[in-house]
Amino acid sequence: MQSDLEPITTWETFRHRYEDPEQGRIACRLGGEVFPFGLPPVDPLQLLSEARDNPKARILRQAPGNTVDLKADFSQEIRAMPLGQVAREPHLHLSIFDLSDLRQPGRSLHRLSEEVIRPFERLCQERGVRWEGDFWPILFMGGSASATNYHIDPTPNAIFHLFGAKRFHSLKQPDAWCPQSVKDAYLNDKKLAVRPEGIRAEDCLVHDNAPGDLVWIPRLSPHWVDAGSLSATITFAFRQFRFE
Ligand SMILES: [Fe+2]
Repeated sequence: MQSDLEPITTWETFRHRYEDPEQGRIACRLGGEVFPFGLPPVDPLQLLSEARDNPKARILRQAPGNTVDLKADFSQEIRAMPLGQVAREPHLHLSIFDLSDLRQPGRSLHRLSEEVIRPFERLCQERGVRWEGDFWPILFMGGSASATNYHIDPTPNAIFHLFGAKRFHSLKQPDAWCPQSVKDAYLNDKKLAVRPEGIRAEDCLVHDNAPGDLVWIPRLSPHWVDAGSLSATITFAFRQFRFE
């Protein structure tokens, strides 16, 4: 298990790092008093079943490459398969941006909602974090050979790992690889970032996700994820994140 990410364990360090123009651009791990939560049990097949049947699920086919392919719809095939076959589908890439149904009593993410999502929302508020709109957890599930390819996000994200093998990649010098023109094209014209030629292993910060890990990715900082088994993460996306 490899981890090149610096662990951040106090709110004071997190705030300092966030406000630092250089360090604040680089991915890190959050733990200690910043994220003092254990991982309650989540049944992978129950989650997959509820997620696959959720009408709001975005279901794509994604293999490793240089960018995300939002046109590779896979929903009809996946919804027609027996669940066991879905679980073995190597290029499954499923996202749900509204978890209200899966967080209800009796559903797969209910305990997670009560024991992690709600308490983390409260803790962020208490510690002076502010954001626009609702607290926003998003589910991502991936097949054994799937990938979330090189991309940037419009919000900073905290990625909570539930189960499975996922190798996370970010860059030591994100803004050197991703100039403002690429960010503007994404924000203004929805033009997706493409992994530039020439990124070497030594330019990357790699983190092998273990269940319960929380990885912090700054806004508009390139990253990509390769799966090694059926896996699931909850991404907390913060619109207009700031410290009060
Ligand atoms: Fe992302």
